[in-house]
Amino acid sequence: MTRKDERPDDCREQKRAVRMELAGFLRNSSYFPRREVKERETSNFNGLLGCTLKGLVRESLARQTKISRESLTNEFQHIVAYITGGANGIGKAIAQKIHCQGAKVVLADISCNGAKVAEGLGEKALFTCTDVRLEKDVVESMKCVKEKFGGVNVLINSAGVVGYEPIYDFKKKKPHSVDLYKCLYDTNVWGLFNVTRLMVGLMAENKPDANRQRGVIINLSSMIACESPPGLIAYGSTKSAVSGMTIPLARGLACKGIRVIGICPGFIDSPMTAPQKPEERKKWINMKLTPKRYGTCEEVAHLVQACIENPLINGENIRIDMGFRYNQEGDAAEQP
Ligand SMILES: NC(=O)c1ccc[n+]([C@@H]2O[C@H](COP(=O)([O-])OP(=O)(O)OC[C@H]3O[C@@H](n4cnc5c(N)ncnc54)[C@H](O)[C@@H]3O)[C@@H](O)[C@H]2O)c1
Repeated sequence: MTRKDERPDDCREQKRAVRMELAGFLRNSSYFPRREVKERETSNFNGLLGCTLKGLVRESLARQTKISRESLTNEFQHIVAYITGGANGIGKAIAQKIHCQGAKVVLADISCNGAKVAEGLGEKALFTCTDVRLEKDVVESMKCVKEKFGGVNVLINSAGVVGYEPIYDFKKKKPHSVDLYKCLYDTNVWGLFNVTRLMVGLMAENKPDANRQRGVIINLSSMIACESPPGLIAYGSTKSAVSGMTIPLARGLACKGIRVIGICPGFIDSPMTAPQKPEERKKWINMKLTPKRYGTCEEVAHLVQACIENPLINGENIRIDMGFRYNQEGDAAEQP
């Protein structure tokens, strides 16, 4: 198609100019050996353009991929990630994923499975038996990490617990358990807050990078923070509290170049969801758009890796929930 103001002669001229420019580029280009260029120059223009562009794109992609792989690995070699709840499920998958990219990882957990995971990862992994609720545990653990790795620039708060109970069991005339409520808040809210408040001082000691950033904090919230069924009232509200910390934390830590991100997964296959019965799983899966299945811990870890890599992501709660929306149908039905 020619533009109205463009004569066919001009088009021919332009094509010729492009052809000359391309031939010149090929002569001077390091992408092709000189002999190959000569051969290609004698072939017809369309063929030349076709192979050349394909070749250029292929080689340029290969170079880019190589470069980004190299820089990624380099970037991750400078990362020391402190992962609470790193002994199992999502925390463990995050540890394995970023360790694989060259990061040093610390698994801070009350489960001794963390020792096995760290041993499997080798030299650049450390397990510290840490209860996130206890100041003493966290301070001691941070001391070990400082000695072994010199500091921390990524904090992943993944330690968490879940419990199902409605606000009131009308059949048994039983109100929601106080202990369950306190236990969920103690770990999911206080534990996360406790580790964060103690860790940011250490993170602020880091030398800023090219973006004047010193680190990133990634908190495992949940899509249940905004889509809670009645039986997850306590758990859901702990996760709302976690999501609610994202913005004020990001604002409070921007002066030190520390980013803060909340990750809100939907139902994920992990030890946390393993006790769910098949009919319950089916009900939740029906509320997802696609894919119609539980997510994997690795899929969440993949997003976490992207959040570490990308300096622009900050002050946001990101849902990774397969488009889950809670269906209230049946909730209003009168209970006996
Ligand atoms: N699995 C899901 O479907 C799902 C969905 C959304 C959000 N999440 C959240 O993601 C995080 C990880 O969940 P998961 O599925 O990997 O659970 P998980 O049960 O597999 O792992 C949780 C880990 O936290 C550790 N932990 C618990 N209390 C602790 C404490 N006081 N101190 C230190 N460590 C403690 C446990 O030992 C365990 O290793 C949790 O915060 C959870 O609420 C999970």
